[in-house]
Amino acid sequence: MSRDITKIRKCLFPAAGYGTRFLPATKAIPKEMLPVLTKPLLQYGVEEAISAGLDTMAIVTGRGKRAIEDHFDISYELEHQIKGTSKEHYLTEIRKVITNCTFSYTRQIEMKGLGHAILCGETLIGREPFAVILADDLCDNESGDSVLAQMVALYDKYNCSIVAVEEIPPQDSNKYGVIAGTEEAKNIFRVTDMVEKPEPEDAPSNLAIIGRYILTPDIFDIIRETKPGKGGEIQITDALLAQAKQGKVIAYKFDGRRFDCGSVDGFVEATNYFYSKVK
Ligand code: G1P
Repeated sequence: MSRDITKIRKCLFPAAGYGTRFLPATKAIPKEMLPVLTKPLLQYGVEEAISAGLDTMAIVTGRGKRAIEDHFDISYELEHQIKGTSKEHYLTEIRKVITNCTFSYTRQIEMKGLGHAILCGETLIGREPFAVILADDLCDNESGDSVLAQMVALYDKYNCSIVAVEEIPPQDSNKYGVIAGTEEAKNIFRVTDMVEKPEPEDAPSNLAIIGRYILTPDIFDIIRETKPGKGGEIQITDALLAQAKQGKVIAYKFDGRRFDCGSVDGFVEATNYFYSKVK
């Protein structure tokens, strides 16, 4: 029986960046492995993907990132040591992740931007719609479905690319991709324009893209044609603009919270938030 390739099964995690803002912590440890409480950022992302019904994780890594592969694998020595002891429960969550999905990896050889990182993942994704999670945007929704689960449900209805957006203070526009759109339903916008990291006076709105995307596979061909943009890098925002011009991008103001764990302030905020949840 053939697979239903309209269903989203795969999640791409661009994870090749250097994490310079967290040096020296990220000198030998991938930034995606920095823990909020006891769990690495990337594991939060993978658990969010699983919560959205996805089971195939595609990770774009780079040099010095081998700890990621080891994390999503069995450590026989550790299993042997703690089996049957009072500490065994510490491994419950990660075991569940490992047994519920598969992981595949490819490397981004050169850092040429998020669009380029996503294109590197083409070999793992193929020709089907897929999700993208940027693990340093840590999301949580206490009152219902995870952010990605909300987006997957929307995809079933709209069948086009979707970006998650949130309102930002106008002076922060130069840290994000910013969209313009017409609100079709509550919190759902048909995107008409998108600009990567505009100065506040050039921002088309105060709706910023955060690190959750659903992309249709034609995006790969579009990225291949996309010229370097902001910062001389190949930007996913520019590639998505080509789809938006055909009315094929939705922006979704999600339910929940997002922490910018790519910054020290956001990381500390996330840590305090998750700590207050378990105490
Ligand atoms: C990337 C994207 C940007 C988006 C942001 C979300 O930027 O290029 O459009 O708003 O992620 O976190 P980066 O944070 O990698 O510079």
